[in-house]
Amino acid sequence: MTIEPAKILLFGVGLGPGDPDYMTVRARDLILKADRLVHFCKRGRRGNARVTADAIVPPDPAREIELAFPVTTEAAVGDEAYDGPIAAFYDAAAERLAAEMAAGRTLAVLCDGDPFFYGSFMHLWRRLAHRFPTEVVPGVTGMAGAWTRANAPITWGDDVLSVLPGTLPEAELVRRLVDTDAAVIMKLGRNLPKVRRALKIAGLVHRAIYVERATMAGQVVSRLDDKPDDEAPYFSMVLVPGEGRRL
Ligand SMILES: C[S@@+](CC[C@H](N)C(=O)[O-])C[C@H]1O[C@@H](n2cnc3c(N)ncnc32)[C@H](O)[C@@H]1O
Repeated sequence: MTIEPAKILLFGVGLGPGDPDYMTVRARDLILKADRLVHFCKRGRRGNARVTADAIVPPDPAREIELAFPVTTEAAVGDEAYDGPIAAFYDAAAERLAAEMAAGRTLAVLCDGDPFFYGSFMHLWRRLAHRFPTEVVPGVTGMAGAWTRANAPITWGDDVLSVLPGTLPEAELVRRLVDTDAAVIMKLGRNLPKVRRALKIAGLVHRAIYVERATMAGQVVSRLDDKPDDEAPYFSMVLVPGEGRRL
């Protein structure tokens, strides 16, 4: 008897940093073929990953499933006012997708960057991957898009790279920044003043590069020193390139 491999129903599809040209062939194929395109968004707005996919598949209400977050601003680590509603949201979203898959439909969950790198998809994956055959399709991360567009090689030789969420407390950011060769600081938003202070204390602010909407329309790249304000949208990060061994 031959055992047929189970049909994959759930795909977590990394779409890359924003420019659709950086999408993988596998990602493109899946968003053309999946029965349903699933994306996360703010209430009343299309999600960024869905906008990235517009280059391949125009909006089609009959094929779309929108998962609108109840809370959207980045919270401090361990903030219970954020964690409670958002966990309930993921529970409900997972059950909605489970019903689609129980009816035999394939789902492509569209993800910014790579699905397993700070991705919302991971919370669905944790609830569903043991119940339904699942494939995760890697994508080019936002930080790879940022350091290439900033023309800034991030690690040389044996440089250690630290990836830090800007939501960390200031003292924790400083501790980790003084102990690394290179850094990527994600989730800036309203955390930028704190991140700037931490970089100053760690003696790294003059090496820091601010990147907004890397590879997307409206991309901004500048030295952090040259940025006059502390406004930072959701899609922004700070890079501190390493200065290790150059041969
Ligand atoms: C929840 S994480 C998702 C990361 C994503 N899965 C990835 O692989 O890049 C969101 C954070 O990623 C960063 N980010 C992702 N794409 C970006 C881009 N194209 N330009 C600037 N920042 C980006 C921002 O710091 C943002 O706050």
